[in-house]
Amino acid sequence: MSSPFKIAVSEPIDDDAIKLLQKKGEVTVFKRGELKNRNKLIRVLKQSDAFLSMLSDKLDGEILSQAKNLIVIANYAVGYNNIDTEAAKKLGIHVANTPDVLTNATADLAVGLMIALARRFPAAEKYLREGKFNGWDPLGFRGIEISESSVGIIGMGRIGFAFANRVREFGAKIFYHNRKRVASETEEMVSAAYVPELEVMLSECDIISLHCPLTESTRHLINRDNIQRLKPHAILINTARGPVVDEEALAEALHKGNVGGAGFDVYEKEPEIHPKLLSAPNCILLPHIGSATWHARKKMGFLAAEAIINILDQKPREEIPNLIV
Ligand code: DGY
Repeated sequence: MSSPFKIAVSEPIDDDAIKLLQKKGEVTVFKRGELKNRNKLIRVLKQSDAFLSMLSDKLDGEILSQAKNLIVIANYAVGYNNIDTEAAKKLGIHVANTPDVLTNATADLAVGLMIALARRFPAAEKYLREGKFNGWDPLGFRGIEISESSVGIIGMGRIGFAFANRVREFGAKIFYHNRKRVASETEEMVSAAYVPELEVMLSECDIISLHCPLTESTRHLINRDNIQRLKPHAILINTARGPVVDEEALAEALHKGNVGGAGFDVYEKEPEIHPKLLSAPNCILLPHIGSATWHARKKMGFLAAEAIINILDQKPREEIPNLIV
């Protein structure tokens, strides 16, 4: 009898996904943070046939080349910039992700950040908690009205589209910048106009929301020069990936009042947050919770577990839509 597949799960996730994997092999669920130790991660991968990874697991070529038995990695995230997919491909290791199921959760979060900043929730709440609220103030806490705003979306993939669809309901003007222009029917569905020059969109929009993946061409896309192009009242939302923004340059612009506000869920050196960002005004900083709904996290577990099972069962790749490599 052949030995059962060895499946490693990087951190505890929803029980149902674990139960599903247990039908296929011997499952080890590691404690949160246990695989941060590179040597331990290498040891675990050397002994595993499948790995359910987190976006915080850095799976570079050097690590993957030592994982001699590894057949498949399923990343518990839509983004997979933590995995060297080129190296995986060369080594014949399959890689899957969890698209679609977290689209609504992440788009909702971006909208929440947009409203909270446009209407100055952080400062207004602080004022009340400090006991300063002494009655309705006709001049107090005036903010940006979304319906009167221009909203610029960087990255018109699934989440960018879902964000645009929500913003359309507010009646804002919607612009987007993308590697490639999307189909005109897609633009029409969300009333979004394509702006080929990023610089133009940055200088003309009141609200900018990032929804692009992290690649070599999007790293520091929002750099010091581009930050200078933003309007002084502009709000920047980042629920995509931290390194898309030069965090220090943005924090400095916020401190100087050159940018109106920032809503971040992701960080350049996650989980470290730039100290200047922590002290910047009109900022909401969340601990990477874009997909953190009960619904999305359960579905992400299923999708990742199913990809592992399908690969181990040698299903044809056309039948595994969330396979990247
Ligand atoms: C993802 O899936 O890439 C998200 O960042 C997780 O919240």
